[in-house]
Amino acid sequence: MPLNYDLHINFMNILGIESTCDETGIALVKDGKQILSNVVASSVNLHKKYGGVVPEVAAREQVKVIIPVLKETIAQADVSVEEIDAIACAYGPGLIGSLLVGVETAKTLAVVWNKPLIPVNHLIGHIYANWLEGTTDYRLRTTAVDSRQSTVDFPAVALIVSGGHTDLVLMTGHGKFRFLGGTRDDAAGEAFDKVARILDLPYPGGPEIEKLAKNYKLPRPERSRYSLSSLHERTDTPELGSMYSLSRIHPRPKSPRYSASEYNFKQNKFTLPKPMTSGDNFDFSFSGIKTAVFNLSKKFSLSFQDKTEIAYKFQDAVCEVLVKKTHKSASKYHVKSIVVGGGVAANSELRSRMSDPAKNGKLNVFFPEKELSIDNGAMIAVCAYYLSKKVPPLFLKADPSLHF
Ligand code: KG4
Ligand code: ZN
Repeated sequence: MPLNYDLHINFMNILGIESTCDETGIALVKDGKQILSNVVASSVNLHKKYGGVVPEVAAREQVKVIIPVLKETIAQADVSVEEIDAIACAYGPGLIGSLLVGVETAKTLAVVWNKPLIPVNHLIGHIYANWLEGTTDYRLRTTAVDSRQSTVDFPAVALIVSGGHTDLVLMTGHGKFRFLGGTRDDAAGEAFDKVARILDLPYPGGPEIEKLAKNYKLPRPERSRYSLSSLHERTDTPELGSMYSLSRIHPRPKSPRYSASEYNFKQNKFTLPKPMTSGDNFDFSFSGIKTAVFNLSKKFSLSFQDKTEIAYKFQDAVCEVLVKKTHKSASKYHVKSIVVGGGVAANSELRSRMSDPAKNGKLNVFFPEKELSIDNGAMIAVCAYYLSKKVPPLFLKADPSLHF
């Protein structure tokens, strides 16, 4: 169901419900920025042994936890039902069983409590997580709090990188989107998850690959290319506070981590493709990198060191493609800001590379707090604040294949 947004119908306290996959997230957000409460229950542990989300299991867990999550959200926010101005819910894209639970709950609450119901596209919700307090402008190294709320200036390009999507979108204002490109095969998060499985790492694979990649010792020439000093110069600014201290992400080594004699020159034995970095389109393709890793796993018996190298190079390839395409679109459309959202936006390497001032000039680069990059109810509530479109509750239908 395409939505025409009634902009500027702003509700004060919005209850946002997210249930598109394996997370059940409900949040109360005030004035489109302040999170009063944000509760997320995840069935991720139940899926670990299968190496990916089992839709039926995810849906059943949604049914089990949605009411306790709702009660906890309202209790934590300490607001009465009368103080809730509207109910928002993600109605797609996602797994139909999971979606139905959130959508039907939202419809019921809207009818019983007599509140407006605002449907939200989950993908657009990921973008709007950048309007919540706690969003960091990586170039200015400031974290938005209260009156210092960061402002995303338009036009902006938005990159959505999640388990199911990799989309690049031009945003000329609130609710004004133009799709520029997307993945032709696997989504970025999906590729992280599949490569993790090949490397015998648990689901979800993104954080595991990131952890493993940190163990990889780059050979000298490649190491110097990444200019550790420039990363460290950007750390420990008072404005950054404790939220996204780059020094935590890239701790300053006390001394060089290895000497030439310690370095195992045989270690650097794998190369992975960086697909679609050139060309005039804004599409992506990640299944080739995944297949290259799969082929390596068949060809070699991979040691821990080998796996660290593959994890590093896989993350490097994915980040390079995402950053290049985003920067290219930003320069083509002369935008003022870059906003990134979705689970893969939690990746520290992606955060620091996307905001590298040498590459993006004067652009402001926004990432939500890490917990707000992955699925949650607050991103649904803030999106509803900016893109209000009331629908009669009984007419709303979940749409698993909803797109931009
Ligand atoms: O947005 P999200 O929570 O759910 C979907 O809408 O799909 O994204 C989940 C995806 C998973 O594929 C997970 O592996 C990936 O985000 N992810 C990461 C990181 N944290 C989560 N990928 C790379 N690095 C991370 N730190
Ligand atoms: Zn998502």
